[in-house]
Amino acid sequence: DIEQKIDSVLALMTLDEKIGQMVQYNGSWDVTGPATGTDNEKKLENLKNGLVGSMLNVTSVEHTRQAQKIVMENSRLKIPLIFGYDVIHGYQTMFPVPLGESASWDLELMEKTARVAGRETAAAGVHWTFAPMMDISRDARWGRIMEGAGEDPYLNSKIAVARIKGFQGNDLSDPKTIAACAKHFAGYGFAEGGRDYNTVNIGIYELNNTILPPFKAAAAAGVATFMNSFNEIDGVPATASTYLQRDLLKGKWHWDGFVVSDWGSITELIPHGVAKDKKAAAELAVKAGSDMDMEGGAYESSLKELVEEGKVAEKLIDDAVKRILRVKFRLGLFDDPYKYCDEAFEKSELYSEANQEVALEAGKKSIVLLKNENDILPIKNSIKNIAVIGPLANDKDSPLGNWRAHAVENSAVSVLEGIRNYTPKGVKITYAEGAKLSTGDRSFLNPMTFNKDDKSGFAEAEKLAKQADLVVLVVGEDAFQTGEGRSQTNIGFAGVQDDLIETVQKANKNVVMVLMNGRPMDLSWSSKNIPAIVESWFLGSQHGNAVAEILFGRYNPSGKLPVSFPQNSGMEPLYYNQKSTGRPEGGAQVTYSHYTDSPREALYPFGFGLSFTEFEYGDIELSADSFSEGEKIEASISVKNTGNMVGEETVQLYLHDLVGSITRPNLELKAFEKISLKPGERKVVNFIIDKEMITYFTINKKWEAEPGDFEVMIGGNSVDLKKANFEFK
Ligand code: IFM
Repeated sequence: DIEQKIDSVLALMTLDEKIGQMVQYNGSWDVTGPATGTDNEKKLENLKNGLVGSMLNVTSVEHTRQAQKIVMENSRLKIPLIFGYDVIHGYQTMFPVPLGESASWDLELMEKTARVAGRETAAAGVHWTFAPMMDISRDARWGRIMEGAGEDPYLNSKIAVARIKGFQGNDLSDPKTIAACAKHFAGYGFAEGGRDYNTVNIGIYELNNTILPPFKAAAAAGVATFMNSFNEIDGVPATASTYLQRDLLKGKWHWDGFVVSDWGSITELIPHGVAKDKKAAAELAVKAGSDMDMEGGAYESSLKELVEEGKVAEKLIDDAVKRILRVKFRLGLFDDPYKYCDEAFEKSELYSEANQEVALEAGKKSIVLLKNENDILPIKNSIKNIAVIGPLANDKDSPLGNWRAHAVENSAVSVLEGIRNYTPKGVKITYAEGAKLSTGDRSFLNPMTFNKDDKSGFAEAEKLAKQADLVVLVVGEDAFQTGEGRSQTNIGFAGVQDDLIETVQKANKNVVMVLMNGRPMDLSWSSKNIPAIVESWFLGSQHGNAVAEILFGRYNPSGKLPVSFPQNSGMEPLYYNQKSTGRPEGGAQVTYSHYTDSPREALYPFGFGLSFTEFEYGDIELSADSFSEGEKIEASISVKNTGNMVGEETVQLYLHDLVGSITRPNLELKAFEKISLKPGERKVVNFIIDKEMITYFTINKKWEAEPGDFEVMIGGNSVDLKKANFEFK
């Protein structure tokens, strides 16, 4: 059995070799090669001596084999490397960015895209992805909001588990699956002011009730690894948090995988100001339960001394190493270190036609229709001249989003191309860029620069808009505007886009705005002045085709927002599951919780998304109006398609715990079901309300269900809801 094998390997290892397993190097093998530069020479030497457990950013069969060979042919114990890589929404075939895909609320779909992304990754010789990210993100200013599943703990938990299942399958040793990583543990999405890496100040209840549920679900689902986070919580950096890593994850949750640090997050304990040097940082991190040091050099330089001085017990090192070996055994790397090195599979799998089909399906299902005045969409047969305008309209790169792994630059189907692919005969398409959005080099690490004054393309855009029956205006964000280190204080349109939007709108009132973006944006002007708004996020390789299917009515939009869209930047962080406060209402007076210059409600709320058809909800029927321990209630509601197109609806159930031992949110998503209805068809959706559904982290710092009154709310978004009441006795 694996545990015996782990013990027998451990028994052979020297302290140096054990610490080596806890070291992860950045490879960039395909960029720098193994032996250029002094750092790489040292790395190469350590690889040969079996002093490295893992590498990240070494990809392709050729390069992973090359690196693995160095270890297998030179090191004493020949413990295989595990290769990790950021496969966030695809390896070469790009799927929608995670936030966008979460708008599908389609768990099977998300499992499928993760499976395909995992297959492509495995085909490229890589064993492990640093995904899924499950940081609850309620602040649109935070650039990394695009990498997760949005603002809700329940939705995030479900999606995290679906993605983990997709990556890992049922059997990690299958060379077509890869190990997943639950990140970033924990609280990273709550950075103050939405500024990346910033301080997080939340209490124990918020941490447990809001931030930890997806991680707990991931651990229970058997995720192979965790990554800790850069931020502190209430003074304790997550990397040095014993509470998170030892007490909860490895203690209460009984999870047996390993925790990798985030890039350099162990040495970052020095600038955090809790360690005076690398050695102190290593001591804090290893004691707290960080098992592997990602490119930080702290474990490599200091752990041995710490053990020899008696400051760190060798049993802590043994525990970390066993966890790392366990994952390597589960992946089957001890049976065959080259089992992911299959050139034929690499060739047939990457960017295959079948994978492109999945990307198109995911793209369509992720689109959210925010506004559709006078049913301007789908585009009517009477429209014979369409002007496609905007800086992102023929952009073949931005749809790939940030964190794009090995996507080929400019490989996405642009919106213009998609429209051309789907245009009915006899319809004329014209195109004008209008203005550039960004200028200068765009890349993962470069700061963005925007076109602030060049409006020379406006005249052409205006002319085409005037001549057209309808304008498709494609605006929003550049792919590299969201992602790591991409926080903004203003979530409006960058560059000269505001002026372009107004110019086009003045020239033609029939405008369909197609948004491309990785965060909720300030749509206050557009929501009043533009008749149709289609939220298309960054949909990946098949972006343009997916958008065109919606515009021409080949697919009826079904996406629902996984994040609230605010009225303006100043409302952020904004989320639907707010608390009442002691001053929820004030009538004519000002002394209540509100803004004097803005509504406090979202412009487009969580769970919201229109369809080309209409759904009518009946009243909630409860099988009983109370239940106690061991019992449950069934809540049913009938939903009818009253329009004339087949459509999918996500029926959402929310609860409000009216009185708790701590303050409780006004509503919390607790269940949902996606159904498809033909025109005129009615379905009854049943939900079970049980003790688990009302259990939370109470004043007693325990997961408990407290007796009392509850409101149950069901509907198609977090605002338009039918209501009923029940009691838990
Ligand atoms: O996985 C990422 C993480 O999300 C941010 N820092 C770097 C890691 C590895 O690339």
